[in-house]
Amino acid sequence: MKTVISTKPLLNVETPLLAVIVAPGAGVSPLKDASLERAVTSGDYKGQKDETLLVYGAGKAERILLVGAGKPTEITRSAIRRASAIAARRARSLGTQTFTLGVAKEARGSLGAAELAQVLIEGVAQGSWQFMELKKQPEDPKPEVESVELIFEAADKEEAEAGRRIGDAIAAGYLFTRNLQMQPGNVCTPTYLAEQARKLAATHGFGVTVLDKAQIKKEGMGALLAVAQGSAEEPRFIVLEYQGGAPGSAPVALIGKGVTFDSGGISIKPALNMEDMKFDKSGATAVLGAFEVLGRLKPKINVVGLIPATENLPSGTAVKPGDVVKSHLGKTIEIINTDAEGRLILCDALSYARRFKPAAAIDAATLTGAVVIALGHHAIGMLGNDEALLDEVRDAGERAGERCWPLPLWDEYRELLKSDVADVKNSGGRAAGTIAGAWFLREFVDGFPWVHLDIAGTAYLEGEGASHAKGPTAIGVRLFTEFLLKRAGA
Ligand code: BES
Ligand code: MN
Ligand code: ZN
Repeated sequence: MKTVISTKPLLNVETPLLAVIVAPGAGVSPLKDASLERAVTSGDYKGQKDETLLVYGAGKAERILLVGAGKPTEITRSAIRRASAIAARRARSLGTQTFTLGVAKEARGSLGAAELAQVLIEGVAQGSWQFMELKKQPEDPKPEVESVELIFEAADKEEAEAGRRIGDAIAAGYLFTRNLQMQPGNVCTPTYLAEQARKLAATHGFGVTVLDKAQIKKEGMGALLAVAQGSAEEPRFIVLEYQGGAPGSAPVALIGKGVTFDSGGISIKPALNMEDMKFDKSGATAVLGAFEVLGRLKPKINVVGLIPATENLPSGTAVKPGDVVKSHLGKTIEIINTDAEGRLILCDALSYARRFKPAAAIDAATLTGAVVIALGHHAIGMLGNDEALLDEVRDAGERAGERCWPLPLWDEYRELLKSDVADVKNSGGRAAGTIAGAWFLREFVDGFPWVHLDIAGTAYLEGEGASHAKGPTAIGVRLFTEFLLKRAGA
C-alpha cells in the first residue's frame, strides 16, 4: 500500500473517492458542496461517531464520503484510527483502488500532524484488509486498496511526512501479521513460522537462530518438547536479534506463543469453533510483525524475539495428564491438563531469555479462555512483576489503541499451582484462570522485569465490526512498536 502526503485544497483533488473525517457541529461539512450542505442543514446527516454519508458528482471528486469521528472534545488517536478504517472499508467495498483522505479541523482534536498521519495510515491498513489468497473462485472480487493520498495543510507537511514514515512501517508489520495469522494450520506449521523469521532476517539483516527438535532437546527444553511430542510436525525454537542500539546494551525481549494449532491434546477441546485455534500462534505473529516494523524504522534499541513454535495434538505419543516433565529452568512440572500448553512452551522461552540479560521482557500469548470471560474482546489482560514496566506497557497500549487492563498477581494465587508430585502443576482449575496462567509463567522468570499480555480475547474477532473485518487483528504489533519507539527515544 502506497501513501502520499498532499497539500492540495480538498475541493481540488481529482479522485474516485474523497473521504473526510468530520465531527458533529461546526466540522460537519468542511466542503462547499450543495448536496452535502442539504444533507447537513436538513439534519439528515449529523456526523456522529461511525455515521457515514456518501454523495456523488460533487466537485472534482467522483464521490465524497463523510465519516463521523465523535465529538470534538472526545477525539483521540483511536477515534481517528477508527474513522479512517471505516473510510478504507468503504473504499474497498466500492472497489476504488485509490482514495483521498482528509480530516476536518474540528475533528483533529489535539492531535499533532505527525501522529495524525500515523494513525490515519494505521486505520487504512486495518480497514482495507482482505484475505483472498486461498479462494480460487471469490464471489465478489474487489481489488486491493493500492494507494491513499492524505491531505494536510502546507505548514504541517514536514511533520506529517515523519508520521507517514512510522505509519507506513506499522502498516507493513500489521498486514504481515494479519496475513500470517490467517494462514491455516496445515500451511503455517512451526517450520513455516521459522521460515518467515528467516526471510525477515534476510530482508532486514537481523540475526536469526532456529533450533530444531534435536537442538531443543539438547538445550533441555523439556516443557516445549512435551507439548510437541504428540505431533508429526517438528517443533522449532526461533530467535531473532535486532541490533539498533549500542553494542552490549541490554535488549528488550519480545516473546510470542507460537502454537500453530491447539486441539487441546489428550485433554481435547470441543469441536465447536476449534478451527479458530489456528489463531493460537497470534503472539508469535505479533513478534514477527514487530520485527518487520523494526527492520523498516531502525530505531536505536536492541531487541530479541523469542518464539517457541509447536502444534498441540493428541496421539499415541502425546503427553498425558499426570505426566511430569523437566523444564529448561530445571523445575519439574506436573501436567494436569494438556490444553494448558501455552504456558509450557513459554516457560522454556522465558528461561532461555536469561542469557540475554534483558532490560525488559514482554510476552504475548493467547493463553486463557478466562481472559475472554474477564475482559471480553476490548482489552488485553496484563500481569507482571514490575510496576514501572506495567505502566510503560499500559501507556504504549493506549497510544496503540491496543488497551491493556491489569489483573493482580498476588502471592495468594500461587497456591493454585501447588503439585503433589512436582515443583509446580500447569493448571489450577477454573478459578482465576488468567492469573494462574501468569503465575505459572512467573515461576520461570528469573531476574528481569517482565510483563505478560494475555491476548486470547483480542487476537481475533468472531464477527465483523464497523471498522474491522472478521478474523485476525494483529494485536500486539502496534503496542510493541509504540513501546520500542518510546524506549529508543524516537
Ligand atoms: N489457546 C487456549 C486459550 C484460548 C481460548 C485462546 C480461547 C483463544 C480463545 C489455551 O491453550 C487453553 O486452552 N487454555 C486453557 C487453560 C486451562 C486448561 C487451564 C483454557 O483457557 O481453557
Ligand atoms: Mn490450549
Ligand atoms: Zn493454546
